[in-house]
Amino acid sequence: MSGKGVFIVFEGIDGTGKSTLSKKLKAWLEEGGRDVVLTAEPTEDWLGAAVRRANQEDLDPRTESLLFTADRCQHTLRIDELLKRDKVVICDRYYGSTVAYQGAALEHDMGENAVSWLLNLNGPVVRHPDVTVLLTSDPGVAMLRVGNRGDPSKFEREGYLRRVQETYLMLAREAAWTVIDSNGDLNEVLEAVKRVVQAYV
Ligand SMILES: Nc1ncnc2c1ncn2[C@@H]1O[C@H](COP(=O)(O)OP(=O)(O)OP(=O)(O)O)[C@@H](O)[C@H]1O
Ligand SMILES: [Mg+2]
Repeated sequence: MSGKGVFIVFEGIDGTGKSTLSKKLKAWLEEGGRDVVLTAEPTEDWLGAAVRRANQEDLDPRTESLLFTADRCQHTLRIDELLKRDKVVICDRYYGSTVAYQGAALEHDMGENAVSWLLNLNGPVVRHPDVTVLLTSDPGVAMLRVGNRGDPSKFEREGYLRRVQETYLMLAREAAWTVIDSNGDLNEVLEAVKRVVQAYV
């Protein structure tokens, strides 16, 4: 392992294993002697709290997008500092989440402009990750893993997550992210993640 700062991002719909794999990857990298910081969006900062509140209050998705992006802007500055100190930073969700989730939510009002607006908004506030892993799963399987979380309509949620995942896959093609199918055994998924990350650490 090299010792330089590395920025790793996990993306994917709810229940694809981002948080679980982030922790397992951290443990593996630490065994290899790296200093690893695990971070996530929305952050634990007051801007992250504002994002969570917006989510509960069912605000307009444009307002939510701006809040997510404000939180990310400050978060990115902290990530930059950690990378300068040669940490491996593992980030559980980053700008792809805003583009995919809010993109799907705004599609009805804005059509294709939603995704380009969100990409333009995020462009100046993000740092290009060294590696982004997109975990994919059948939305039905992923939903079972996280439970229904009180959503009024399971099928509505499943359809929405399907659309979110399509947008994610489009982003993955455009930005050359690594796509890993997470329907299978968790240890096999972890091994696939390690093989990808190995080249960067
Ligand atoms: N490949 C897998 N096989 C079986 N169970 C899995 C797999 N991946 C994750 N899980 C389980 O699914 C649940 C959800 O995983 P996790 O919380 O890591 O997902 P997440 O992507 O972080 O979800 P969210 O976006 O909602 O935060 C956990 O209980 C986890 O142990
Ligand atoms: Mg999670």
